[in-house]
Amino acid sequence: MSDGQPPVWLDPEHVGRRREPLSTLRRAVPDDGATCVDLDGDWEFQLRPRPDAAAGERWLTAQVPGCWTTEPSLWGEVPDPPWYTNDQMPWPDLPPTPPTEHNPTGVYRRSVEVPAEWAGQRVLLHVGAAESVLLVRVDGHDVGSSTDSHLAAEFDVTAWAAPGATVQVELTVVKWSSATFVEDQDQWWHGGLTRSVRLVTRPVLHLSDVRTVARADGRLDVDVRVGSDEGRLPAGWRVATRLAGSELAFDAVAHARDLDDERISLYRGRARFAGIFPGIATWTAETPVLHELTVELRDATGALVDSVVQRVGFRTVEVIGADLLVNGRRIFVRGMNRHDRDPLTGRVVTREQVREELLTLKRFGFNAVRTSHYPNDPVFYDLTDELGFYVVDEANIESHAWAHEICDDPAYLPAFTQRVARMVRRDRNHPSVIIWSLGNESDYGANHDAVAAWIRRDDPTRPVQYEGAIKDDWNAGFAASDIVCPMYAHIGQMVDHVTQNPPIRPVIQCEYSHAMGNSNGSLAEYWQAIESLPGLQGGFVWEFADHGILQRSADGLPAGRAGAGSFADGVPAEGFRWASGGDFGDTPNDGAFCLDGMTFPDGTAKPAMFEHRELSSPVRLSVVDGDVRIRNALDFSGLGHLRAQWRLDATDGTSLTVPAVLPDLAPGCSAVVALPAEVVAAGSGERWLQLLLSQAVDTPWNPAGAEVSRPAVRLADVAVVQEAVWSPASVDDEGQVSFPGLPTRPELTLWRDPTDNDVIAGDAERWIVAGLEETGAVVESVRADGEATVVVSRLKTAVGDVVHTQRFRVAGDVLGCDDTVEVPEGFDDLPRIGVRVALPVPDVARWFGTGPWETYPDRCTAPTGWHELPVAGLGVPYVRPQENGGRTGVRELHLGGVRFSFDQPVHATVTASGVTLDVRHRGLGSASCGPNALPQFRIGAGTHAWSWSVRAR
Ligand code: GAL
Ligand code: MG
Repeated sequence: MSDGQPPVWLDPEHVGRRREPLSTLRRAVPDDGATCVDLDGDWEFQLRPRPDAAAGERWLTAQVPGCWTTEPSLWGEVPDPPWYTNDQMPWPDLPPTPPTEHNPTGVYRRSVEVPAEWAGQRVLLHVGAAESVLLVRVDGHDVGSSTDSHLAAEFDVTAWAAPGATVQVELTVVKWSSATFVEDQDQWWHGGLTRSVRLVTRPVLHLSDVRTVARADGRLDVDVRVGSDEGRLPAGWRVATRLAGSELAFDAVAHARDLDDERISLYRGRARFAGIFPGIATWTAETPVLHELTVELRDATGALVDSVVQRVGFRTVEVIGADLLVNGRRIFVRGMNRHDRDPLTGRVVTREQVREELLTLKRFGFNAVRTSHYPNDPVFYDLTDELGFYVVDEANIESHAWAHEICDDPAYLPAFTQRVARMVRRDRNHPSVIIWSLGNESDYGANHDAVAAWIRRDDPTRPVQYEGAIKDDWNAGFAASDIVCPMYAHIGQMVDHVTQNPPIRPVIQCEYSHAMGNSNGSLAEYWQAIESLPGLQGGFVWEFADHGILQRSADGLPAGRAGAGSFADGVPAEGFRWASGGDFGDTPNDGAFCLDGMTFPDGTAKPAMFEHRELSSPVRLSVVDGDVRIRNALDFSGLGHLRAQWRLDATDGTSLTVPAVLPDLAPGCSAVVALPAEVVAAGSGERWLQLLLSQAVDTPWNPAGAEVSRPAVRLADVAVVQEAVWSPASVDDEGQVSFPGLPTRPELTLWRDPTDNDVIAGDAERWIVAGLEETGAVVESVRADGEATVVVSRLKTAVGDVVHTQRFRVAGDVLGCDDTVEVPEGFDDLPRIGVRVALPVPDVARWFGTGPWETYPDRCTAPTGWHELPVAGLGVPYVRPQENGGRTGVRELHLGGVRFSFDQPVHATVTASGVTLDVRHRGLGSASCGPNALPQFRIGAGTHAWSWSVRAR
């Protein structure tokens, strides 16, 4: 500042000062204290209104890692709650200058004892992540600075932190900076030290980087870098590398070349090794086999000076033509977008939590994660390597609000380069990382091509993707994207792209199926297209979790860490709620748009997760020419890890489970199976066959015996003859039928409580304007007609009258009803056509239809059969109240002694106060950010007719 330079937080070209390069080596890992001092825990803390504000009097205590935004006790005079915006910046200031008057700045300090045993070695300070600019001082000396809220910064503090001394470390975190303009992701804005802080030592002469390339054919190349202050090692020192008990060969040719080239000496530059391990077990997301590589640095006496162990997964990733290949095979990418977020701590996540989230993804059939929209904590990649996930590793670059400007602005090129290069240098050894992503929603400019070129040279072993490069033209942007990775593309667009011309790159949507509220309609149609058309390989659902933050109702403040235990199964305890944009007085904001996960804020799965589970079932069932066929839908594995049972359910009440033998099928192969005779003979009426798949062996995500999926097919019906002699039901002038199980008149309803998709797409508004919400149908006539009593009612709407005719008849203890609803021209898209019956509902509902989880007409891959659940458990507590709790494809519905049967599958919703039975219910679509319900899931004008009956016992 003093020399006329802008302060670092106002300088877009500033990316960091005196920051060590990132490498694959992770030194800041707590050990027995020999090489690492854990600095997590309590720090003195002060929140100041601006980075240049004077120090306050009072120091509070803050927990590191932690966000001050979620801990109101840390605010002092500067209230700074979480602030949610999607694409807009939270303030109007133009890049590159953020607000200068109000710029919350957290100052953390504590004293640290530097172990005396570290004498003669280097001392480094490791800061896991700081949002958004970090300034480091040790005993008042200016050490350095860093940007990028999602990568570590390491500083060599040897000069100021002598072994044996006690020093004061001060970490200043400035919230808003020029870098904020490239961190405009759709999430809460926070401030704090969001990952661990540590003091680390390493030898002056040390291993500084180990880069591995392990291919599916068993070839392993290792490139070791040694750091030294001298620029060379003393005579006799050497590096050795070992895998699976065998020493790798030193690459003498490369060595000679390095020596020839005066710029590089062996130990300033690199020592290269190679080994061939024919037949070694390879890595895939289905078979995540890891091997240990040991790298040692020894001095002239042979004593070990430094060593590291790196995990290696042998695998090859390529894009060849329109196929993304892993180990030479085309894979399906069943992906999820995941953010680092937590309802209590904002942005701080623990290893256990990340692991739990990944286990949830495994349970629901996901095999890929995009680290939307920044590099995650290093433990994430250890876990994805171990558990088996394909990862799209995304650089922390999103300039959404100023996308056009920043992507071409050379002042921001250093930020682009550093963010991308540091991610690649850090994560390159992880087999799970199969694609590099240049960031998100930053338009497409020269800066993108520059960083794509950097990656292609530095790591030619993986493809690069960037959505912005292809967004306007799926046949363009080759410089920055090897993959057509659009967001929210319609199925039709995907299909056209691969069928109208031969596709030249794989299509894998970086985001699709927006999970806001009751959503994810037509996942099945996406996967139907993806699994059948070359060129389409999958996509990443948006997104894993709702970003709701736990808020205390009493004072409107974030609950913070003290809120632990104040929620269960997705629902906040009394006195709390899930906050979204604006709930903390954050203005401007984007409201509930951050509540768009397939899980609740606490990670509890929503029903859409089960839809995905069934669509990604490792085993598929089909009926071909009357034969039941089983297909192995995995990419690399057989079916030995699964157990199975047949279950046959029929509308006559049959439900039969018998053991099944899974054929030994190679990936992609199928076979006709013979059904056990008892299954073939069982049941009458409509008959459905399920294959109940469970885990044969324990896995980290499922114990042996846990349910994996339940593929189902319809078998041939066995006709049931039902003769009934009907007579007219007794109906009063108001249309009320006298029948024991039916205390109220089944009344026409066309309305549903709008889903987020309905609201955001404007459908709800159309329905309100049409008057569907308020009006009830008025009974016009009640008359006898042959064997039935006919009730005609009329619902007046702004579009025209809807006429509902009900023909009530009785036979013994059964009431029958034929319903006809005439919808006038002008309506082309109604929420539902059904009848609502208020009646006393018992505790448990039993039905023959899809389930047991919530289903909707465009999200109903769930097995059809008999299901039973407590009525209290049928609804789904979406954070913003909306339509929920339906079950599609219902043929029979039993509420205690009151039993409904339908002549065609209906969509039934059962609550404590009654049932709604729809002959048609609109699809959910995903229009809050993507395509609306497909035409086949919409309800238009015309005559809709169905029959149902109810028996009361
Ligand atoms: C995308 C974006 C995501 C998120 C999503 C909508 O445009 O990349 O970050 O905003 O839409 O929820
Ligand atoms: Mg965005």
